[in-house]
Parts: sequence; C-alpha cells; structure tokens
Amino acid sequence: DQERDQRIAVVGAGYVGLTTSACLASLGHRVVCGDIDEDKVEQLRAGDVRILEPGLAELVRAGLESGRLEFVVGAKAAIAHPGHIPDVVLVCVPTPMSASGAADLAAVETTVAVVREALPDGCALAIKSTVPVGTAARVHSMLGRDDVAVVSNPEFLREGSAVEDFLHPDRIVIGSDDHAAAERVASLYARLNVPLVLTDSVSAEMAKYAANCFLAMKLSYVNSVAEVCERVGADIDAVVESMGLDPRIGQTFLRPGPGWGGPCLPKDVHSFRRSASDLGVDLPLMDAAVAVNARQQHRVVDKVRHAVGGDLAGIRVGLLGLSFKPGTADVRESPALAVAGLLADEGAELTAFDPAVSNTPQQLPELVFSRVTLVDDPYHVAKGAAALVLLTEWPQFQTLNWQRIASLLERHVVIDTRNHLTPETLRGAGITYVGTGKDADP
Ligand code: UGA
Repeated sequence: DQERDQRIAVVGAGYVGLTTSACLASLGHRVVCGDIDEDKVEQLRAGDVRILEPGLAELVRAGLESGRLEFVVGAKAAIAHPGHIPDVVLVCVPTPMSASGAADLAAVETTVAVVREALPDGCALAIKSTVPVGTAARVHSMLGRDDVAVVSNPEFLREGSAVEDFLHPDRIVIGSDDHAAAERVASLYARLNVPLVLTDSVSAEMAKYAANCFLAMKLSYVNSVAEVCERVGADIDAVVESMGLDPRIGQTFLRPGPGWGGPCLPKDVHSFRRSASDLGVDLPLMDAAVAVNARQQHRVVDKVRHAVGGDLAGIRVGLLGLSFKPGTADVRESPALAVAGLLADEGAELTAFDPAVSNTPQQLPELVFSRVTLVDDPYHVAKGAAALVLLTEWPQFQTLNWQRIASLLERHVVIDTRNHLTPETLRGAGITYVGTGKDADP
C-alpha cells in the first residue's frame, strides 16, 4: 500500500531536516527527528522554532500536538526510539564547503558511524543532504550492511519558502540501485501530486548539482547581460521580460542583482567544479559563472565610488539589507556582505539595516561585525550618508518614505542593486536613482 503511513527517522533539525520532518508528519507519517544540539531539541519540543521559515513553526506545533512528530537528542536516539522502528531514515545534516572547495562530509560520515549498527534490519537510509557524486555508494560501503539500502533523495527546497516547496515540489528525485528501497522512499511522498524521477543514485546526486549550477549560471548570464545593457542604454527589465516569455528560458530566476549567494549555490558550484576537476573534466561555464559573480560585487562598489565622486575613504555609505535574500536572516555567502567588505576595504564608513539580521556577532561574521554599524531603523542608515545602497530586496523597502530619506541623505543618490524600487518615486523625491542594467540618471 503506497499510501500507508510510514515510520520515519530524520537526522538533523536544520532548515532541511526540520522542514522535512514537520511536512512528513503533516502528511500523516510518524516522524522522530534527532539533532545533536540539546538546546535546539529542547526548544523544538516546546514548539519553539528559531528558523525564520513561513509556516514551519505552525507545522511543527501541529505535529507535536498530533503526536506524529517527536524530537530527540542524537541520530541514534532517532532510529532507536521506543515503539518506533523506522522504515526509512532520512539524513539531513549539513555538508558545508571546506577550504578546498569540496563539500565537507564529516557530518554525514559521523551520522553513518553512529547509526551503523543500530539501523533496523531492512530499512532504507536516504541521503537528502547535497553530497558529491558517489557518496551514496561510499556510504553503502561504510555501512557494511547488505540488508540496508542507501538511497539518494536530494532536496530542492529554497530558503524562505521551504514548507511551500516541500508540499508543492516541482519534482521528487530518488536514486538507488535497490529498486524496492527507492519505491519505499518514493511512497513517503505519495500524497503529493508530483513528477517522480526514479533513477540510480549517481544520477540523482548529479541531478542536484546540475540544477543548482545551472541556476547559478543563469544568474551570472543575466548579470552579464545587465552590464551590457548599462553600456548601450537598454533596460534589463524589458530584456528579461522578453527572454522569459520564451518557455525554453522561463520567467523565473532571471532577476539581476549583486550576484548569487547563500548557503547553497556557491557551495554546490564549488563542490561540483572540484569534483569535475578531480575527474579531469573542465567546466569553463562554471568557472566563468564564478568569475562573473565576483565581478558583480566590484561593479556595485564602482557605482558607489562614481556616485560619491571618487575616493571612498571616510565616506559614509548606508546599506539596506544584509541577508542573502529577503525572508531570511541567513547571511551565509551573502553578496551584501561581500559588497560591505569591499566598501570597508576602501575606507567607507558603513551603516546597515536589515529587518531580520540583528547586531550580534553570532549572526554576522566577525569581519563584517567589526566594520559595519548595524542600526534598527532604515532611516538611521540614510542619515548623513553620501549614498544609499539597496542590497537585499526586502518588500518593506519599497514603501519607505523617500522624501524623508532625501532629507536625511547628504547626497541624494540611491543605488538599487536589485531593481527593487520605483525609480519615479525616488526621482520625485529629488534622488538620483542608479538601477542595475539600465541607464543611470544623467
Ligand atoms: C537554492 C535553490 O534555488 C534551491 O532549489 C535549492 O534546493 C537550494 O539552493 C539548496 O541547494 O538547498 P536558496 O539557496 O534558498 O535555494 O536560494 P535562491 O532562492 O536560489 O537564491 C540564491 C541566490 O540567488 C540569492 O542570493 C538570490 O538573491 C539570488 N537570485 C535569485 C538573484 O540574484 N536573482 C534571481 O532572479 C533569483
């Protein structure tokens, strides 16, 4: 019976593990989620969700109330929970970028070592973390258990819409050399009406990298086109609208900006390049995508320099937004931080406001924390600034009082790296508007 409720263990309660756990419980399965962070487990048991993810806290609390979702400390406790013998164990631990650019598999390896002997007979171990191609096979040999199938089940959740993406996915990809185990993992999602790609584990692992790297390449391409638009006086918004109407290109993921960032795309691009290079395969398209991305941040700095009339030393610059995209407090590999770092290198005095990022060293890397003054009011950012730079397209920035901002700015220049604001509104307030991929004000 494909629709039967299953018993599932989830290892890791980060944004992937927690979203997966809460959503699977909402689909009727029984889920025990284990995390090594005792404080986090205690909070989660109390329904206290610290990840900013729309709908997640509600689903976690509903899961706890229904008894279909439980939290325990550690991977072993998740698979050996009294009265709960899991059919499927989902590994959702982080695989951060190591110094070499390769994915750091320490958390996956530790998980495998910890659960190895305790895994119930005949269960399926599914890897949701993004892992280098060949990892499922390696995990299988590390396990040394013929009765346990290893399945690759990459996740495609976006931060900020993880619950929505989980419950309404574009596709589910499941790879294994054990067909029955793959079907068992597929049945977890039987209630979601969604295209299913059943394949081998290497292809499933490749599918995730190929997708994220394509998205990065798509954005670098758009950002390059935007640069040419600026030179020839074309408007990137019209160009992109027209491109996107071709279904082979598609409407989404075409917005120019200060470059792509976040905890996933940069890490996956580097890991994929690294794996390819180890295999002796050149990936010039990805190399170029990375180079173009770094260039975007320098281009923003060039615009700021131009706006203030040259030298940035001792010049006050205000930053709107620090997170890598709106709807999240996550600043990992945020292009906004990269821009802030470059401006600080040139001696600019930086003040920043972000609706979700607070002034704590826990949230901001030391380098930025020590060089940027975070304020809790966007108007304070404008005060006495020679230029204002919008770096993250938080919706609330659109409705700021631009007359008031103009009265606070020392020079009336706003650089909108995301084409998020309405140029006419700013111009009406006497502000010089500098967008991305469009003609600057004379
Ligand atoms: C990304 C992928 O979109 C997900 O499909 C994938 O599952 C996830 O990584 C992952 O590997 O776990 P996410 O990191 O949440 O999701 O962020 P995105 O929404 O993809 O944004 C990435 C970056 O691209 C951000 O800096 C964003 O500002 C930028 N971006 C995105 C643009 O500059 N323009 C766009 O049109 C879209």
